[in-house]
Amino acid sequence: KGVTTIDPGYKNTGSCESAITFLNGEEGILRYRGYSIEELAEKADFLEVAYLLIFGELPNTDQLEKFHADIKKNSHVDEDVKKIVDGFPKSAHPMGVLSSLTSALIAFNPSSVNVDSEEEMYNAIVRILGKFPVLTAWAHRKRAGLPLEYGDDSLGYVENFLKMMFKSPSGEYVSNPVITEAMDKLLILHADHEQNCSTSTVRIVGSSHAGLFASISAGISALWGPLHGGANQAVIEMLEGIKEDGGDTKKYMAKAKDKSDPFRLMGFGHRVYKNFDPRARIIKKAADEVLNDLGVDDPVLDIAKGLEKEALEDQYFVDRKLYPNVDFYSGIIYRSLGIPVEMFTAMFALGRLPGWIAQWREMRLRKEPIGRPRQIYIGETHRPFKDIEYR
Ligand code: CMC
Repeated sequence: KGVTTIDPGYKNTGSCESAITFLNGEEGILRYRGYSIEELAEKADFLEVAYLLIFGELPNTDQLEKFHADIKKNSHVDEDVKKIVDGFPKSAHPMGVLSSLTSALIAFNPSSVNVDSEEEMYNAIVRILGKFPVLTAWAHRKRAGLPLEYGDDSLGYVENFLKMMFKSPSGEYVSNPVITEAMDKLLILHADHEQNCSTSTVRIVGSSHAGLFASISAGISALWGPLHGGANQAVIEMLEGIKEDGGDTKKYMAKAKDKSDPFRLMGFGHRVYKNFDPRARIIKKAADEVLNDLGVDDPVLDIAKGLEKEALEDQYFVDRKLYPNVDFYSGIIYRSLGIPVEMFTAMFALGRLPGWIAQWREMRLRKEPIGRPRQIYIGETHRPFKDIEYR
């Protein structure tokens, strides 16, 4: 039977039932498995949130310890993967590197592909949670010209990641609780966001039973775009551009409103939040606190606040219900933590990993059918073949 209506961008199309993330865009509510994002960001750590998202309940101490131990046991990456990293140019974007390396892991972990039982799924899940921070750190170290290192099993998941990122060639790393806590909070705020572009990609790729790593690799590619996760890099580049251009925010507001100009105010607007993005509120407050604690004075933060104020009072933005989203202030924090701008979207990917896993697992456990949207054909009707000399 033919299709009679379409919904470009799936603005009003439900693709699945899900018990993972609740989102009310009108009231700015975001909850993981029923727990508010505000409370989780304050009281839980990233690994607890990952467990919650994937398995549905907050872990008790024994469950959390076992989960972490299983992840650590799987944090080794085959030495040959280093050769692949070596083969990339230093200038390669970390998201391209990460997507490729995540796919490459399939070759080194073939048993992670055909996973049908819950036990096989669990094994694939702890494998990717163990190896992904290593790959992310390697993507950074390759760009920075640093040797590729492994982590330190005595540390927590996030602290270990930071050490892998920032350990000097001679092995020095100075832990800073302000940085670790801020990173933990940022990762929690990014951990899931129901059926966004990358998550829908993960579910649809996974629906062909392509395997967890292939599905995650596709999700990374979807996240890379500047309308999705890539916005965090684009925001800082935009704010820097405004600063270098004399800090005239009004000029850029006018550009954003000019329909003949492709410029958009990056970090503004959201498909589902039409009142405010609860993550942006937490991140804005955290940006002030973290920069203060670290004694960092970033002039770009003032430009961001100025732009936000102007946009919130501007009729164009008010009419279209455009508010700062999660990416508007996150880059300012990442930068103060020493994360280079090209790595911002990779940080988003690391944070989103538990959400992608949870959604993939749910889709497989619910035995959802292969994803396959329909279309309305608008091309030529039947035409006789034209020989090449008559074309
Ligand atoms: N600056 C200027 N105008 C905008 C912006 C913006 N950032 N965002 C939307 N608009 C306008 C748009 O031109 C349209 O106007 P009109 O109705 O006159 O044609 C109207 O607002 C609706 O926009 P849309 O593009 O139809 O909305 P959408 O739901 O398809 O897109 C969005 C949502 C997030 C892609 C979009 O707001 C945008 O491009 N924002 C900038 C990029 C960004 O910050 N992305 C990060 C999103 S949050 C992180 C995550 O991906 O999870």
